[in-house]
Amino acid sequence: MARRHRRGNAEAMPRLSRAERKRETKFLLSFLAPYRGRLTLALFVMLVSSGISVSFPALLGQVVDVVLPGTDEFIALLGFKFSLMEFAALIGALLLLQSLTRYVTSVSLATVSENVLASLRTKLFAHLVQLPMDFFGERRVGELASRLTADLTLIQDTFTFTVLEIMRQSIFLIGGLIFITSMSLELTGFVLLSVPLVVVIALVLGRYIRRYSTKTQDALAEAATVVEESLQAITSVKSYSNESHEVARYGEAVQRGVSLAITGAKLRSAFVSFIIFALFAGIAGVVWYGGTLVAAGTISLGELMSYLMYAIFIGGALGSFADLYGQIQRSLGASVRVRELLDEVPEQLDGSSGGSELFQSVTADNISFAYPSRKDAPALIDVSLSVDAGERVAFVGASGAGKSTMAALIQAFYRVDSGRLLFDGRDSRDVDIALVRRCVGIVPQDIALFGGSIAANIRYGKLDASDDEVREAARLANALEFIEDFPEGMATVVGERGRKLSGGQRQRIAIARAILKNPPILILDEATSSLDAQTEALIQQAMERLMERRTTIIIAHRLSTIRLCDRIYVFEKGRIVESGSHEALIADSESYYAKLCRLQFGPEATQTS
Ligand SMILES: Nc1ncnc2c1ncn2[C@@H]1O[C@H](COP(=O)(O)OP(=O)(O)OP(=O)(O)O)[C@@H](O)[C@H]1O
Ligand SMILES: [Mg+2]
Repeated sequence: MARRHRRGNAEAMPRLSRAERKRETKFLLSFLAPYRGRLTLALFVMLVSSGISVSFPALLGQVVDVVLPGTDEFIALLGFKFSLMEFAALIGALLLLQSLTRYVTSVSLATVSENVLASLRTKLFAHLVQLPMDFFGERRVGELASRLTADLTLIQDTFTFTVLEIMRQSIFLIGGLIFITSMSLELTGFVLLSVPLVVVIALVLGRYIRRYSTKTQDALAEAATVVEESLQAITSVKSYSNESHEVARYGEAVQRGVSLAITGAKLRSAFVSFIIFALFAGIAGVVWYGGTLVAAGTISLGELMSYLMYAIFIGGALGSFADLYGQIQRSLGASVRVRELLDEVPEQLDGSSGGSELFQSVTADNISFAYPSRKDAPALIDVSLSVDAGERVAFVGASGAGKSTMAALIQAFYRVDSGRLLFDGRDSRDVDIALVRRCVGIVPQDIALFGGSIAANIRYGKLDASDDEVREAARLANALEFIEDFPEGMATVVGERGRKLSGGQRQRIAIARAILKNPPILILDEATSSLDAQTEALIQQAMERLMERRTTIIIAHRLSTIRLCDRIYVFEKGRIVESGSHEALIADSESYYAKLCRLQFGPEATQTS
């Protein structure tokens, strides 16, 4: 199944239709709703500060008109008369008010945007962890992490800086236009005639720039993926001495970004140069044309000065719009990507069956299954098996035969394609997934621990377990001894994925975890790597304790474990080819099982004792 949303990083941001833009804006605004009051305050205060900024040129023009001719000592404003000194004090006070209001606006917006970002992040993460396993089979961790960081940060920038700037610049634009039209219609007509040309050129250039900055970002994201992957597999990188290979890989990815970034920078520079040229040309034009108006006595010199400043305001506002528009566009793109994740259907973990009884038995009835990412190669074909309450059953078979896949299905990580999986006779489709997972515990084949302390890792089996319970579980798992040998004991930090522990130690932590969870159905996916005899015995003993009074499925690689099982299912290429007790299966020396035993454990394995 080709998933519609699987999009490579290198692909350019999609152009959004009007409807999409509207939907994304609505989606983003919905997160602002709880902060309506604070936002209104910020908006109001912002109006005050921008209003002051906008009236500033008019005030200065008045001063010029009074001071230059030296005719009048008083400046008239709104029916009041001010001396020059008073007027200066008034301007000073206004400037102070402007700074204060600006501060209040910034702080309120920052508060809102930080809160919005946090709730978006939490919401997205909560959603992410509830997505089904097949989703994670198709996505890279690095990509998902960047959704939570880069994309959301982009959106946050929009909430603070961009929205504020757009409002401020709009006020400059509108206020400026009102002032200049009220001052001189002639001059304004002159200015406005030249504006559309500039705007059109700016918009066209702006679009190109945007395209390049998106591509550059994607290239950077790709480079980040290389970093993440090689650091995650750093031991492989080192043991194969492939550092230079990784460096080259990273270098290539970075290089791809460089040429894009340079082209982008050229375009941006051209854009800025053009805007500056247009601005200064505009000023020159206004001075020239305005000069003739002053000479003719149509406007005063002070008015011309105010006029010039407004023209700059307007030009600046228009110039910044292209950039701000690009910013909005980018964050709408980010919002689309974030929403794509939010639109993925999470697993049904309703937890409604909280009080219901735990299941004890599993039956597979003609199950077929292919991993969603590999639909054409089924991992299980027509598998039927049953594990009754309290039974101990083994899965054996060659590597890749489908044993761990069967375990994944029993944990409801995936839905079967056909056939039925039954828990105590109930179809798994009718059972809450959370309940299934409460019933089934696993000690997996490759154990990835959390980076925290040993205690935290064991407690993961039962989050509200007391320290004594954790200790007891560690003791039963034969882990207490090695844990207490560490200077920091239970508080020892295990490192990323538990890397600071040995394989055998990790396994016993996983057993302790399962002991705490205390599930009625247990799956032991034996590690294939061999351990020293003593550790092996310790783990064996811990596993025995864990299996007591439970329905157990062992994916077994040791003859000693297999022999003790009530029944053995032999997997081959996704099918169950044989089943029965060890004795029954080796009775036929030509059986697949007998061959497997001879291969794995030597000729004496199939001799009946
Ligand atoms: N997440 C996955 N996505 C796609 N294919 C997978 C996935 N996990 C396993 N497979 C494939 O499914 C098949 C069965 O794998 P499985 O892990 O069940 O084998 P196994 O019997 O547990 O082998 P082993 O003894 O080596 O652990 C293999 O061909 C494997 O490549
Ligand atoms: Mg396996």
